[in-house]
Amino acid sequence: MDSHPSPLRDEPLGWTFFRQWLKSPLSIAAISPSSRQLARQMVAELPVDARRVIELGGGTGVITQALLDHGIAADQLLVLELNPELHDHLRRRFPQVAVACADACDLPEVARRAGLLADGPADAVVSGLGMLSMPRATQRRILQAAFDVLRPDGRFIQFTYGPAGPVAGEVVADLGLVARRGNLAWWNIPPATVYVYTRRTDRSPA
Ligand SMILES: C[S@@+](CC[C@H](N)C(=O)[O-])C[C@H]1O[C@@H](n2cnc3c(N)ncnc32)[C@H](O)[C@@H]1O
Repeated sequence: MDSHPSPLRDEPLGWTFFRQWLKSPLSIAAISPSSRQLARQMVAELPVDARRVIELGGGTGVITQALLDHGIAADQLLVLELNPELHDHLRRRFPQVAVACADACDLPEVARRAGLLADGPADAVVSGLGMLSMPRATQRRILQAAFDVLRPDGRFIQFTYGPAGPVAGEVVADLGLVARRGNLAWWNIPPATVYVYTRRTDRSPA
């Protein structure tokens, strides 16, 4: 017997996503899931030796699938999703992956509880969160939480639909980070650009 009946199980992913957007547009922050092109471009920004990866805001799992396709082992991947119905959907779609129904702001505690950091810090945090629509204080808490679990040269990879970087410049500067613009996914609706954030070092460009 299935103990988690879900109305989301058999419906198309785009509809699953759209229904959640209707209920909670600010938190979902997009009317359709990311395209596979965008998911591949996000994953292409992983460090070449990336093993331990955390995804924030898994949604219906487009980026989760791209991470697995890229070769990230299911037991080295942790996905956080705040929306209970999307969390339930992700757990069914990826039974071999740890998926937490949790707020990205609580990442260090969630990752420790999941045992992901037992052998060392994470190599990358890949975020599908609607960062642009978040207040600066929330952006700061999420970036701080991510860099608390990342290795010194770890990467925070984020996409945006906007013309500029998704994290406020003031937050980037205060946390001692640098931003690099990656590829533009033309075929995404709407087109989206990938950004990569790392800790500033002496060799970082001004
Ligand atoms: C723009 S959607 C992206 C979904 C998916 N990654 C994709 O690219 O199609 C943002 C997702 O982040 C989730 N989310 C929003 N705020 C969150 C938070 N504070 N912590 C964890 N997940 C959150 C939403 O429920 C939604 O599934």
